[in-house]
Amino acid sequence: MRSHYCGEVSTNELDQEIKLVGWVHRRRDHGGVIFIDLRDREGLVQIVIAPSNPELFKLAESLRNEYVIQIKGRVRRRPEGTVNRDLATGEIEVEGKELKILNRSDPPPFPIDEYHEVGEETRLKYRYLDLRRPEMLNRMKFRASITRYLRRFLDDHGFMDIETPFLTKATPEGARDYLVPSRTKPGSFFALPQSPQQFKQLLMMAGMDRYYQVVRCFRDEDLRADRQPEFTQLDIETSFLSEEEIQQPMEEMIRGMFKELLNVDLPNPFPRMPYAEAMSRYGSDKPDLRIALELVDVADLMKDVEFKVFSTPANDPHGRVAALCVPGGADISRKEIDDYTQYISVFGAKGLAYIKYNADGLQSPILKFIPESVVQSIIERTHAKVGDIIFFGADKRGIVNDALGALRLRVGQDRGLVKEGWRPLWVVDFPMFETADGRLTACHHPFTAPKIKDTSELKEDPTKLLARAYDMVLNGSEIGGGSVRINSSELQMEVFKLLHISEEAAQEKFGHLLTALKLGCPPHGGIAFGLDRLAMLMTGSSSIRDVIAFPKTQTATCPLTDAPAPVEPAQLIELGIRIHKKIEEK
Ligand code: AMO
Ligand code: AMP
Repeated sequence: MRSHYCGEVSTNELDQEIKLVGWVHRRRDHGGVIFIDLRDREGLVQIVIAPSNPELFKLAESLRNEYVIQIKGRVRRRPEGTVNRDLATGEIEVEGKELKILNRSDPPPFPIDEYHEVGEETRLKYRYLDLRRPEMLNRMKFRASITRYLRRFLDDHGFMDIETPFLTKATPEGARDYLVPSRTKPGSFFALPQSPQQFKQLLMMAGMDRYYQVVRCFRDEDLRADRQPEFTQLDIETSFLSEEEIQQPMEEMIRGMFKELLNVDLPNPFPRMPYAEAMSRYGSDKPDLRIALELVDVADLMKDVEFKVFSTPANDPHGRVAALCVPGGADISRKEIDDYTQYISVFGAKGLAYIKYNADGLQSPILKFIPESVVQSIIERTHAKVGDIIFFGADKRGIVNDALGALRLRVGQDRGLVKEGWRPLWVVDFPMFETADGRLTACHHPFTAPKIKDTSELKEDPTKLLARAYDMVLNGSEIGGGSVRINSSELQMEVFKLLHISEEAAQEKFGHLLTALKLGCPPHGGIAFGLDRLAMLMTGSSSIRDVIAFPKTQTATCPLTDAPAPVEPAQLIELGIRIHKKIEEK
């Protein structure tokens, strides 16, 4: 139907007869001549229809935006003074000779030919129209270039692309499972994988040595700007490599991709930062290194102050008292401080104490509670100067880290302290476990190997154990995470026990893995990158939904198809499912 893409016609085709197909982006009638901007995936080209052929002209007059047409015409140089330098095809135009309407279009619910603020619900309902807009099209193209680069790199480095099942058994990655009822085994359910973790490990046990897959993962969790219930991982597993030997080629891959796609030089090697240091300096395990602000511990100075808000956590082994000095922040208003206090209260912070270092002295609601010598030590330790403000967080360690970590990002953004550029790093030496409501949970996942020399170390305080896990972090976003895995059945069972998974439950849930671990399992480890997050960062998008063709809303629904939706009673009967009355009434 076509000889060229619209956006690719150039002076190379001068005087040639060409055939184009595409969408009417815009029609303009000018002094008896009709101009059509014809659009396809590759861009726009201007078609000119002169009145000399009345039949053709009449047909062109009937064109409306988004009609799908075919044009035969001759390429010619645009007249002097009408060249459009903003358009790739701006030097030429196509003199239309024949026109065929392939399909008409109702007026679109929002214009495609000019930028227009459209609510996200509408954009998602008519996603196929939204995707016609150049900025969305460009994001999709960029995303495709990411997967193309990554696949090529991995193919060239001996990784095999292998598919793993979607209809499977639960693999814990910390979220709820999406379940699929089985018809052939009524009352039983498949779980959609939260990641292919167990299968990729089994592939190593099968001797595949190096695996990758661009794969959908499903997690029923609370959604945020950088999370989707189904998202794509670049999933990778290797055998016989140490963590450094895994990290090195992964770094090389990401560096190469940034160079090729964005012409950006990332550091070589990426810096490595232990988890404990990241938490202490940035209050986060995914620090945004573009912001120079750092948290500073001051608990040792606060142990004996009369201000209980500070002295209590200062004397609590699980507490933290930290300061965050913001250079030039003394002009932050009372109202802004109240807003910040409100902002960090969602993390459990009960207040936000501060000291302003004004030219005429210190100003603070807490000065009266703190001896001058202590204030002096705080100023020295935080390197505060005239014109600065020092914020304080005092509470359980987790609350202070979350609150001041978030405040650091917020103040950094508000005050233009986020430097340009790309700051990747590896965060390493994660704890093996975290405690939630007094119970241990795996910090990464329960298949991650602990950093131990001897299994007797497991008997000691498990909260002190480190994991052979690593995250790749870029500009404050966790773009990938992985670990060296447990490769002995006994050690795996020990770890399950620490996680309160009984021998019986472990056999029921992970029996296949425990058996495989006993049948010649190589040392192995890997990583998974969040492809959507990478695409989001690299395209400078503010929402993960902008780099996914058909994303879900914040409430995990699809306005385009109206999924999820009720099903026919007959289908439920077949599956042996009855909907609870309370749910039906909702
Ligand atoms: P993890 O759970 O850290 O590791 O996931 C790997 C990466 O996937 C991305 N990611 C998400 N992206 C969008 N929406 C989500 N809901 C979402 N959840 C995670 C993040 C994250 O870094 N099996 C392990 C990997 C391994 O050990 O090899 C795993 O899934 O960018
Ligand atoms: P109050 O004595 O409650 O009026 O608090 C005095 C100052 O300390 C106020 O600026 C509060 O915002 C601040 N503050 C209260 N609790 C905390 C806390 N846990 N961490 C940091 N600052 C706090």
